[in-house]
Amino acid sequence: MQTLMLPSIISHAKEYGFIFPSSEMYDGLQAVYDYGQYGIALKRNLQNLWWQTMTQLHSHIVGLDSAILMHPAVWKASGHVDSFADLMVDNKDSKKRYRVDMLIENHAEALTAAGQEDEAKQLLAQLQSLLQKDDLVGLHTLLLEAAITCPVAKTSHWTDVRKLNLMFATKVGAIESEADTIYLRPETAQGIYLNFLHVAHTARMKVPFGIAQIGKAFRNEIVARQFIFRMREFEQMEMQFFIQPGTDKQWFDYWQNLRWQWYQALGIPKEKLKIKPHDQLAHYAQAAVDIEYQFPFGYKEVEGIHARGDFDLKRHAQASRKKVQYFDPELNQSYIPHVVETSVGCDRLILMLLCEAFTQESQVENGVSKERTYLKLHPALAPIKAAIFPLVKKDGLPAKAQQLFDALKYDFALTYEENQSIGKRYTRQDLIGTPYCITIDHQTLEDDTVTLRHRDSMAQERVAITSLQGFLTETVSLKRILQDCHV
Ligand code: GAP
Repeated sequence: MQTLMLPSIISHAKEYGFIFPSSEMYDGLQAVYDYGQYGIALKRNLQNLWWQTMTQLHSHIVGLDSAILMHPAVWKASGHVDSFADLMVDNKDSKKRYRVDMLIENHAEALTAAGQEDEAKQLLAQLQSLLQKDDLVGLHTLLLEAAITCPVAKTSHWTDVRKLNLMFATKVGAIESEADTIYLRPETAQGIYLNFLHVAHTARMKVPFGIAQIGKAFRNEIVARQFIFRMREFEQMEMQFFIQPGTDKQWFDYWQNLRWQWYQALGIPKEKLKIKPHDQLAHYAQAAVDIEYQFPFGYKEVEGIHARGDFDLKRHAQASRKKVQYFDPELNQSYIPHVVETSVGCDRLILMLLCEAFTQESQVENGVSKERTYLKLHPALAPIKAAIFPLVKKDGLPAKAQQLFDALKYDFALTYEENQSIGKRYTRQDLIGTPYCITIDHQTLEDDTVTLRHRDSMAQERVAITSLQGFLTETVSLKRILQDCHV
């Protein structure tokens, strides 16, 4: 059931206007996707939630929107030009390209599944050791010794292991030369570091304080699959928290704990989440953990929490020969602050929400068994909060329904529909996750009450029109999730 789910979610997301493959008219562009009308509404709600969690619940975190394009020296100083690479290998028969670590990890998984746990553990230990030593020849030998074959060609005719930098390079200006090469940012964090002093001064912030940013990032991933899990153009929601040196462990634990709670507040069951310490640290990190979610294809990272020390600010100070010092009035001394980062992929969260919400249930109606599909999205995140229907297209019901729509539209994302049977209209809203449907019928004209239908239970109740504003404010507001964040 679990492994069958992803294709169903992908086709549901396309059919009902959430996510479309990019450039489909030209057979698509691998690992690039477009968000449709409901997808973007869901994404905006999620981004607002994250933004409000960071910048509203914490008085010592402010926002930023830095440019995607930055001076190329930024990426040299940050270590991305030299170290932000994946190790790849090609199979000479199938001509397919793979990430070496993934090939070996998948083989270890297969060994575990076949009951050969010790062999799997040994293989993973060898992988870690070779990665740490950056031993490309050793990795090639390991592929051969472990008899790891290409999933397509089933042979082990591997090329040498090579490094592929993940940054997309482009040219700036009219005349192309080597010196004009710039990069599409592979993380939003560097824009925050470069603006650290501007924000500290203009916002009059005292360490510890944070800067939050939501924005696009680009990576030329070798293996880009599993829908929007691994994309070449994606969106990150990152927060860099600047702290006194020596308080790294305390703040690392604090953010790990707070971010973990955020997922509980979103309603993700605890048993589907894991905290995983990194075996292999990124070039900038002193300590790191991932928050993983149990996707249909296994537990995978949705968010990283990294103790980055003074790595980035120091490197930028050195490379630019500018002073990046913060004067701490409490300690009466200047220093380069250390950083704890929380970094989450917005698209991965969307995939997590879709996996959680996608529900297929069997139900018996008049003795006939029927399959019901709906999206059990949190009402505060659902693209449309309520649908308003006149029961029939006559007798003044559309005008009354339109009047209600006009009264509520300033506060809530609504939809109005008057075509097709009421059952079909309910089904359509279920498929896009609308939590409430409000139906205006002949009784409404007499007593100003409507039928309120609840998506998950399909229960219907008669309520006064005057209660709707309060009901929706209470149930579909992001406040419901924010209150559970325990900041
Ligand atoms: N600034 C730190 C940083 O970028 P990362 O672990 O490389 O750390 C952070 O990325 C998050 O960005 C990941 O946890 C993931 O959710 C998301 N992410 C990374 N690569 C991605 C990709 N190719 N497609 C979608 N999301 C991605």
